[in-house]
Amino acid sequence: MIVAIDGPAGSGKSTVSKILAGRLGFTYVDTGAIYRAVTLKIIQSGLDLDDEQGICEAAEKVKIEFCENNGNRRVLLDGVDVTDEIRTPDVTNKICHVSDRAAVRQKLIQVQKDCANGVNAVVEGRDIGTVIFPDAEKKFFLSADIEERAKRRFAEVVKKDASIELAKIQEDIKRRDHKDSTREAAPLAMSDDAIFIDTTNLPIEEVVNTICKKLE
Ligand code: DC
Repeated sequence: MIVAIDGPAGSGKSTVSKILAGRLGFTYVDTGAIYRAVTLKIIQSGLDLDDEQGICEAAEKVKIEFCENNGNRRVLLDGVDVTDEIRTPDVTNKICHVSDRAAVRQKLIQVQKDCANGVNAVVEGRDIGTVIFPDAEKKFFLSADIEERAKRRFAEVVKKDASIELAKIQEDIKRRDHKDSTREAAPLAMSDDAIFIDTTNLPIEEVVNTICKKLE
């Protein structure tokens, strides 16, 4: 069984998907981490960000694995733990060079499918219900007001960078929302058969409970 969870940055989908997968005993697949890991690979290999052919080849060759270490989920890129590195602002700012390209997205479809091959999975991303798993048994689309999403992201980032400003985070999220939803290739979109959940005023546990009830 595949449970697809899509939504914009800060909608709560990562936290919800992780808890949900744990509760259901399903595999958790974070497709954003796949886009992030490929972007890191491009940066590390010094490839030109406009070299579509080179990015496609790198996306095809790269080996991305998810594993668990002392109860913590880790992301491995060609065997090296890059869990923290893929979350840096440099990677976040350059992801669009990977995620906006239809040819690169095409290469990553199978990588994403393989992560959920033969297992029950909660798969989280932007185009899971529309492109990657259009036949998923259940689909959810999470969103929240931009102010609330910015506050959530701020609470995470400020732990690592005390100088960060809420207004800057809100601007970044707005820019990413715009880029994600207006790109030609598989934009962030709600599938017609997805259930919409507005998480603005809902605690995480309540979102998870709502999803579990729908799954029952
Ligand atoms: O979920 P996240 O913030 O870690 O995702 C990082 C970026 O990857 C996001 O800006 C858009 C892109 N992405 C995508 O285009 N398609 C997906 N299925 C998942 C993420």
